[in-house]
Amino acid sequence: MKDVLSAQQFTPDSIEAIFETADYFQEHLQDDILRRALLGLYTGETLVNLFYERSTRTRLSFDMGAKQLGMIVVGTEDAKEFSSAAKGETLEDTIRVINEYEPSIIVLRHHETGGAKRAADVSKIPIINAGDGMGEHPTQALLDLYTIQQYKDRLSELNVVIGGDLSRGRTARSLAQLLAHYSDNHLTFVSLPHSKIGEDIKKHLQFKGTKFEETEHLSDALEKADVVYWTRTQAERLTSGQDKPLEEIEAPAEFVIDEIALATMSKEAIIMHPLPRVDEIAPIVDNDPRAVYFQQAANGKYVRMALIDMILRDNS
Ligand code: CP
Repeated sequence: MKDVLSAQQFTPDSIEAIFETADYFQEHLQDDILRRALLGLYTGETLVNLFYERSTRTRLSFDMGAKQLGMIVVGTEDAKEFSSAAKGETLEDTIRVINEYEPSIIVLRHHETGGAKRAADVSKIPIINAGDGMGEHPTQALLDLYTIQQYKDRLSELNVVIGGDLSRGRTARSLAQLLAHYSDNHLTFVSLPHSKIGEDIKKHLQFKGTKFEETEHLSDALEKADVVYWTRTQAERLTSGQDKPLEEIEAPAEFVIDEIALATMSKEAIIMHPLPRVDEIAPIVDNDPRAVYFQQAANGKYVRMALIDMILRDNS
């Protein structure tokens, strides 16, 4: 595997191997001596964090995870503004130039769907897709799946409710594709008509034989959920004519996970969110033991360390 571009490229076997490595790194990071030992693993290797869009979790977890494996990390946190993209340089030329500096891995977040694939097409260095427009976010989907495994102890026979802005939300798109690898999962997509999950994802689920339904009624969906995966309105992707200041983009009242929604859910269900959360999960939900979204974010570092390890092993 040279690049990580799409959730579809992973198999249950490769996912299991990544999760075992993530467990290994998680255990090592809890112990002072073992944590220091990890620093010798990839000394001299370099990771470039090239982010054309803003990020907290993805950029910092790759940065910190790579450093905890002994790597050098360089990058830019807003390449649209702070790289020569602002002067008109193409993504392809930027990737070609970074290749000349011979890093080990390029982690790329790009605002255009397909940006990671375009980069990989001109790059000898492995590209990790850290989110491309309204396309995919495969590393997020892997950490989401890792979190489901951690809390539910299985990846099949799950009722998973995926809700929010599903037409623009790349994390939901990638997670649905990963869940389709496993048997007898049932997905319920909850969204308003203008935010429905893409036809390409529905076709993929049909091809894989994964059952799914679409609804606008949150409470019905919540009752039977093992996993509730909630997402925000992707305000930054609203097209012209719909443009509004960020503070005016609010989750529809009927789509907020709050005390009423909690009362509808099973005691064993878990509530996930890729974050950032805006107003679609009420702060009071944070105190509920079913809310696992901060642990989910923590898992991102271990899973991304495992992906770095997989790529460096495969390409050494
Ligand atoms: N979930 C996620 O991708 O978060 P960031 O945009 O902060 O990286």
